[in-house]
Amino acid sequence: MINTPARTATNLSAGRPALKNIFKDDFYIGAALSLDQILGKEPDAMALVEKHFNTITPENILKWEEVHPAPGKYNFEAADRYVALGEKNKMFIIGHTLVWFHQTPDWVFQDTSGKPIGREALLERMREHIFTVMGRYKGRIHGWDVVNEAITAEGQFRKSKWLEIIGEDYVLKAFEFARQADPDAQLYYNEYDFEYRPKCEGVIRLIKNLQSKGVRVDGVGIQGHWFLDHPPIHEIESYVLALSQLGVKLMITEMDVSALPYYPVDAKAVDISSFDAESQKKHNPYPEVLPDSVQNALARRYADLFALFRKHRDKFSRVTFWGIHDAQSWRNYLPIRGRTDYPMLFDRHCKPKPAFDAIVKI
Ligand code: GLA
Repeated sequence: MINTPARTATNLSAGRPALKNIFKDDFYIGAALSLDQILGKEPDAMALVEKHFNTITPENILKWEEVHPAPGKYNFEAADRYVALGEKNKMFIIGHTLVWFHQTPDWVFQDTSGKPIGREALLERMREHIFTVMGRYKGRIHGWDVVNEAITAEGQFRKSKWLEIIGEDYVLKAFEFARQADPDAQLYYNEYDFEYRPKCEGVIRLIKNLQSKGVRVDGVGIQGHWFLDHPPIHEIESYVLALSQLGVKLMITEMDVSALPYYPVDAKAVDISSFDAESQKKHNPYPEVLPDSVQNALARRYADLFALFRKHRDKFSRVTFWGIHDAQSWRNYLPIRGRTDYPMLFDRHCKPKPAFDAIVKI
């Protein structure tokens, strides 16, 4: 039998400063980790995490469908490793996410015969889930995305089973349960596309309503799934200022900048092969390599965004990237499957890109 020696990690950013040191007086710098990364299958990526980041978020393993796939069945193996990894590196550890309309199994909302359950039964399931998952990592996971994406672009409550069965106070209940489950954890509301004014106003209304009922929300997460030109910096600044009036910390929780043409992040999932040849070229323009001109535009965009965060460093507690390197990013496969995107600071070989150097220099 041949023993393959464990691959040792290469520090592909040797000679570069650590991002977390560059921003140490401003905010935490984080990355979302995939299951493979948590399981130690990507040593190069993990070498970058250890060097550059002081906070981590799990991409998927704490979502309901992963951690609690069937009634009474919890999968904590990957989450245990994730938390241990954060502790070993003395990181600020994030839990993502407790209550969401997506990646939540159908059984949560049904009885054993598949019929919808009622408000009290669903509240009890929500409570049990939050107490079990948060309880396991009490004092160890420091901040939780309690509710993800509850408001639509029009500023209304998003239609979901949570809303349909429990009613609008499902958000309040989730925060109450979370506060009871771990009184010392930071509790966040997380959302995308704040550039839609009514949505931003809807989130502000929601948080103010919670606050008026004595429910403490510690932060609002701005996901930050952006594009080269969209939204413009002044629009981001305008919603940062609006949200900061809530008196809670703001954080960028899922940052990535697509180098591909604008396409709504929540559009229906399609395969690039279902487009005609011309549209394929338009929506997947760089299948082999990113031209220098776009690489430079990406670097400028990252520099502009970080200059904005630093300008408002009193408002931000954290900036987390949704992934580490380009190959890992969901933007290669959602909402259009089969594209090649370049949204991160590190390329497909875990090498720092011009965007990395641009951020360091701001
Ligand atoms: C949302 C969620 C994340 C992730 C991304 C893209 O932003 O909060 O967990 O699923 O979508 O996949």
